[in-house]
Amino acid sequence: MSSVNDIRSTFLGYFGKNGHSVVDSSPLVPRNDPTLMFTNAGMVQFKNLFTGVETRSYSRAATSQKCVRAGGKHNDLDNVGYTARHHTFFEMLGNFSFGDYFKEDAIYFAWTLVTKEFGLSKDKLSVTVYHEDDEAFGLWKKIAGLPDERIIRIATSDNFWAMGDTGPCGPCSEIFYDHGPHIPGGPPGSPDQDGDRFIEIWNLVFMQFEQLPGGERIRLPKPSIDTGMGLERIAAVLQGTHDNYRTDLMRSLVRAVADLVSVDPDGPQGASHRVIADHLRASSFLVADGVLPSNEGRGYVLRRIMRRGMRHAQLLGAKDPLMYRLVPALVREMGQAYPELVRAEGLITETLKLEESRFRKTLERGLGLLESETSSLGSGQKLSGETAFRLYDTFGFPLDLTQDALRARGIGVDLDGFNAAMARQKAEARAAWAGSGDAASETIWFAVREVVGATEFLGYETEQAEGVVTALVQSGRQVDSLTGEGALVLNQTPFYGESGGQVGDEGVIAGEGFRFRVTDTIKRAGDVFVHQGRVEEGVVKVGAAAVLTVDSARRGAIRANHSATHLLHEALRQVLGDHVAQKGSLVEPERLRFDISHPKPILGDELIQVEDRANQIILQNSPVVTRLMAVDEAINSGARALFGEKYGDEVRVVSMGLETDGRAYSIELCGGTHVGRTGDIGLVSIVGEGAVSAGVRRIEALTGMAARRHLNAERERLRDIAASLKVGVEEAPGRVVQIAEERRKLERDLAETRRKLAMGGGEAADAPQQIGAFAYLGKQVEGVEVKDLKGLADQHKAKIGSGVIALGVVGEDQRAGIVVAVTEDLAGKVNAVDLVRTASEILGGKGGGGRPDMAQAGGPDGGKLPEALQAIASRLAAVG
Ligand code: ALA
Repeated sequence: MSSVNDIRSTFLGYFGKNGHSVVDSSPLVPRNDPTLMFTNAGMVQFKNLFTGVETRSYSRAATSQKCVRAGGKHNDLDNVGYTARHHTFFEMLGNFSFGDYFKEDAIYFAWTLVTKEFGLSKDKLSVTVYHEDDEAFGLWKKIAGLPDERIIRIATSDNFWAMGDTGPCGPCSEIFYDHGPHIPGGPPGSPDQDGDRFIEIWNLVFMQFEQLPGGERIRLPKPSIDTGMGLERIAAVLQGTHDNYRTDLMRSLVRAVADLVSVDPDGPQGASHRVIADHLRASSFLVADGVLPSNEGRGYVLRRIMRRGMRHAQLLGAKDPLMYRLVPALVREMGQAYPELVRAEGLITETLKLEESRFRKTLERGLGLLESETSSLGSGQKLSGETAFRLYDTFGFPLDLTQDALRARGIGVDLDGFNAAMARQKAEARAAWAGSGDAASETIWFAVREVVGATEFLGYETEQAEGVVTALVQSGRQVDSLTGEGALVLNQTPFYGESGGQVGDEGVIAGEGFRFRVTDTIKRAGDVFVHQGRVEEGVVKVGAAAVLTVDSARRGAIRANHSATHLLHEALRQVLGDHVAQKGSLVEPERLRFDISHPKPILGDELIQVEDRANQIILQNSPVVTRLMAVDEAINSGARALFGEKYGDEVRVVSMGLETDGRAYSIELCGGTHVGRTGDIGLVSIVGEGAVSAGVRRIEALTGMAARRHLNAERERLRDIAASLKVGVEEAPGRVVQIAEERRKLERDLAETRRKLAMGGGEAADAPQQIGAFAYLGKQVEGVEVKDLKGLADQHKAKIGSGVIALGVVGEDQRAGIVVAVTEDLAGKVNAVDLVRTASEILGGKGGGGRPDMAQAGGPDGGKLPEALQAIASRLAAVG
């Protein structure tokens, strides 16, 4: 018996041998198709190759594609577990020709693989063709040698395959396997075709057309091939069962469930094992591709799948969270074919555990309510929509879970009532919002959100994606088409909306006939991403499909700065102490700014230590790990949160760097975007430190090339300095110290010389004259400042012993300053204040003042200083 893993590799190996490139499965979240919720067929990743929009190095490919069909059109969730072939997650094997081979080779390859490689007996096989497709009919006859009655013409859409309402399409031909007469059912096209006897195993689509919006169907540039074979189905056939859940892979998951709950997987509760096995696959692969449980969009479909699985775990009697314990079994089975599963194992485990712990808390209470509300109801009756809504709103029961719980008893749910209750709650939420402070500017966004819902953010995984324009706003009003300045809202976006200190993304949104330049992205009404900017070309219309491309270089710089902020935060805490808490941050492409609580300036050598530690983690080049956790769990795990910040129930926890004991260096709650590995930051350099307010310091830093440019500029300045000093860079600091010392010495010498000069060139020049009974020295000095006159006067006083000194100086502004000093022995006889007033009058001053032994005055008429000194002499003569 071939295992599922063998069958997958046989398929890929066979087409590889036949000139096909074996291409990896694309993610479950389609990157290139905004109309699809999940990748639901192998051809999704090749859509643009069929239409000729894109070419690649190969024209033949083969894949094993992860697919999810749940939510949207293919909502089979209710059936999964109860039937032999319904899945939410499945693998589709496919071979593709992009304008290379067509029908004949496609039929030849398929027939050879099925009968030779897989060894199925021709007698067990029949095929269908589109009723008009004589060519395919003829080819099956020629290549497979099937008799006419086993080449069945089908006129319905069953044999015309289309990706969706638009996109590549064409007639198709399907291969059926007959499980034998002991299984009920008839051949395709017969009234009993839905039975389990004849099972479609392979669909060959002859891609010839493209369905355009509006109904027109055009020919593809070249006829192409798209095929799809459900791996679970072919495995069932090859393993001799008609039940997909009995294949080795699914069976080992079912057994893993049974081992944990000790309930017979083949007994009456077998459906629960199957539900869990299927939902475990879907949940784990979705988480690995970046979807996390939420109340909107893809995240909500995931939550519904998870919770349905968890509800069945509870039905099997599991007392504690169960699904996360099955992850190792899944990774064992599928990790080799899908390495992303191994990489995301931790995230998957934690996400399942968190969701199930949370769900369990409310499950018991919700079921109690359900029980009491339905105890009086009988088969055929309905639970009120009001109660179903309460279960949804308060207990987190998706509607289908409530329906599932009542199914066995034949009780339905009043859907109109449920929808009415949902609408009422939205209206109330809106009214509450309108009453809040931001009402005026926010109401429009709330109205937008009401209609278009939250924007799905794809920017953690990708910087380019397709989307559909859901709303346009200009000058505060919603419009249907836009030119000039305005704002775009799309159903999904890779653009980061400003939050948590990280600025919004810039870039381009372009679609058929328009190009919009995004100059900022912000979030409004909670989770509506608003792309602000201007239309550069054409007109944007609501409903238009568009490619959203984030300015990747800019985002790269932002990532580096954001991750560096986390590293600096931890380094600052380690160097300065535990009191360090984040007080704010700004993460831009050019630089980062980070405010912390710290009571005093951060010293130079502390900054160097901080920088060193952060750069050591950068050099580790360890992966940056993001996980989703409950807030309390995250905080218990040591994650740093912003005090006073509001977080949702679940938070992203970003860890980076490794301590020597293996713990993460930095763990923070953060919704921002980060580098893949610390080494991507390149380098961090602190370029500024200062005060913001009392007790808060601000650090500014640069990373990567910006840090290099800064350091280069500094080096350039150092070179200039050295060149001016005419020494090498090495000697420059010593030379500067030396020059400063010399300068100090020169200043000292100069002051001394000036002082000497002011005291007069020699004895004769400073000899006082005798005026009456007093010795008088009246002198205009040079090269000293007014403030030095008193000191100088004291020195002269000491020198002459007894007498009167008057010293004046004229400044550059032509103002005169004058000081009059009288020795102690003359106190009571001569008053310095009287004398200085005389001088002040002549100098045009306001009178001056001081003490009888020392007084000072000044005046604007510096030219009259000699006259003023003479006037003092005359006044002295008058005293006696
Ligand atoms: N794209 C085709 C399918 O999904 C093969 O059936």
